[in-house]
Amino acid sequence: MDQPRHVPVLLDRVLELFAPALSGKPAVVVDTTLGMGGHSDALLSAHPELTLIGLDRDPQAIEMAGKRLARHGDRVHLVNVTYDHIDEAVEDLGYSRVDGVLMDLGVSSLQLDEEERGFAYSKDAPLDMRMSKGTGMTAADVLNTYSHGDLARVLSTYGEERFAGKIASAVLREREKEPFTNSGRLVELLYAVVPAASRRTGGHPAKRTFQALRIEVNGELESLRLALPAALGVLAVGGRIVVESYQSLEDRMVKHALAELAKSKTPPGLPVELPGHGPEVKLLTRGAELANEQEIEDNPRAAPVRLRAAERIGAPR
Ligand SMILES: C[S@@+](CC[C@H](N)C(=O)[O-])C[C@H]1O[C@@H](n2cnc3c(N)ncnc32)[C@H](O)[C@@H]1O
Repeated sequence: MDQPRHVPVLLDRVLELFAPALSGKPAVVVDTTLGMGGHSDALLSAHPELTLIGLDRDPQAIEMAGKRLARHGDRVHLVNVTYDHIDEAVEDLGYSRVDGVLMDLGVSSLQLDEEERGFAYSKDAPLDMRMSKGTGMTAADVLNTYSHGDLARVLSTYGEERFAGKIASAVLREREKEPFTNSGRLVELLYAVVPAASRRTGGHPAKRTFQALRIEVNGELESLRLALPAALGVLAVGGRIVVESYQSLEDRMVKHALAELAKSKTPPGLPVELPGHGPEVKLLTRGAELANEQEIEDNPRAAPVRLRAAERIGAPR
């Protein structure tokens, strides 16, 4: 099954934003979140001279996207690493700078659709949630071993869950009887603990807890915190970065990383920009761009997306 099951999010806009940096030259792009290779495939088709470096922490994504992108031959290099290793991956392939970096954060439709990986709360499945299949702590490990304080902090910070403390207490009580193994039991617990009245505004009672566990299991925010400066560091002058986030903590990190580099470091009041103190990037988006109604209808996964993009206009300070 090499056919894509879903449309890449905001594909036309992503192509449009990259076009000025890639057109008519042998450019290099890093797709740091290869997934099923949807964005990569379209970029390679749109730019016949483009070389693409595709990264993904999920070996299954590398394998599947590899098959899908095989028709582009030696223009494609795939590396199974987390995106905070972008600088090493670029250097190992013999490049010093690249013309584009794409980050389409979060889980892929492939990961969500594979029930046994435990990302979806709609199916009873093992509480796994590891994107780097088979390595590191699972969601069940978090539920069965974390202290009340740590669990409540994870749920409240990463899930923005108002009932984090109550949920943590219920988890600790329940795991005394028997450790958690499957999502069905957790979902049942969440239905019992999250007040029915809050569902009208907050959506499914398991939504925020599942998001929080996934972020914790995969160290997602730490990886992104390290990846943003690394990605901006490998971008050539004239090169462009496009980031699609799906939750507010990620989007906030992206916004701050770009805004910081878009500022001049010349002390205020000086009539000219001091050499080496000018802005490093120019923002290409006003605030965060959202999906329109048609996009969301075609692809419900696009509903929460926040897209931000920037172009490097000065060398790293
Ligand atoms: C939303 S999907 C990308 C979909 C892709 N743009 C497409 O068109 O098919 C996100 C992908 O990023 C990967 N991923 C998430 N966190 C990562 C990280 N820290 N490093 C590398 N890959 C990561 C996931 O394994 C997943 O395959």
